[in-house]
Amino acid sequence: MKMLVLHSGVYGHTRRICEYMRPALESGGFEVEFQALPGEVPDPAGFDAVLIGASIRNGKHNPAVLQFIEQHNQILESKPGAFFSVNLVARKPHKNMPETNPYTKAFLAAIPWQPDRVGVFGGELNYQRYRRMDRWVIRFIMWMNKGPTALDTHVDFTDWDEVRAFASDFAAFAASRVQ
Ligand SMILES: Cc1cc2nc3c(=O)[nH]c(=O)nc-3n(C[C@H](O)[C@H](O)[C@H](O)COP(=O)(O)O)c2cc1C
Repeated sequence: MKMLVLHSGVYGHTRRICEYMRPALESGGFEVEFQALPGEVPDPAGFDAVLIGASIRNGKHNPAVLQFIEQHNQILESKPGAFFSVNLVARKPHKNMPETNPYTKAFLAAIPWQPDRVGVFGGELNYQRYRRMDRWVIRFIMWMNKGPTALDTHVDFTDWDEVRAFASDFAAFAASRVQ
């Protein structure tokens, strides 16, 4: 069985989350192919399952994610599929579920695809790593929603056990649908 894993992010954290999922997906019986979005994405029709992960930047997932989903909706609907969002609002316990995370809720409402599994993971905050403009933007966002604003902050809000559990659950579900 083959799974297409698409990751969309800017500073590598979403890709890291996908990489962390790899062993659980492979244990579930999938050969996994990673691809960045935007990028040269293979035709999803050639895969048994599709997983898409995307981070939030300035209030939005990359438009290429929406575009990909709209373009391939029919194929996506015909296969086991999962989506997860990575953002810093999800560091708050009452905003870390698909039903309570504003970005994820809005995104799911905007796309035609109904993924079988949806995840929300807290992201990484590392001011020193960002380009200057990004640093000020995210610092302002953090100030607005009472997050850390000290410029030496480097925090990882991802619950890695939850990431692994999400991957295992999706792999088991997808395998049961394929066979
Ligand atoms: C320029 C910038 C803007 C961001 N905007 C938001 C935002 O509007 N809301 C939010 O919750 N998180 C925001 N984040 C946090 C990211 O979603 C988080 O850092 C995530 O881990 C980034 O993953 P990536 O490295 O795969 O892009 C922003 C981060 C950066 C650098």
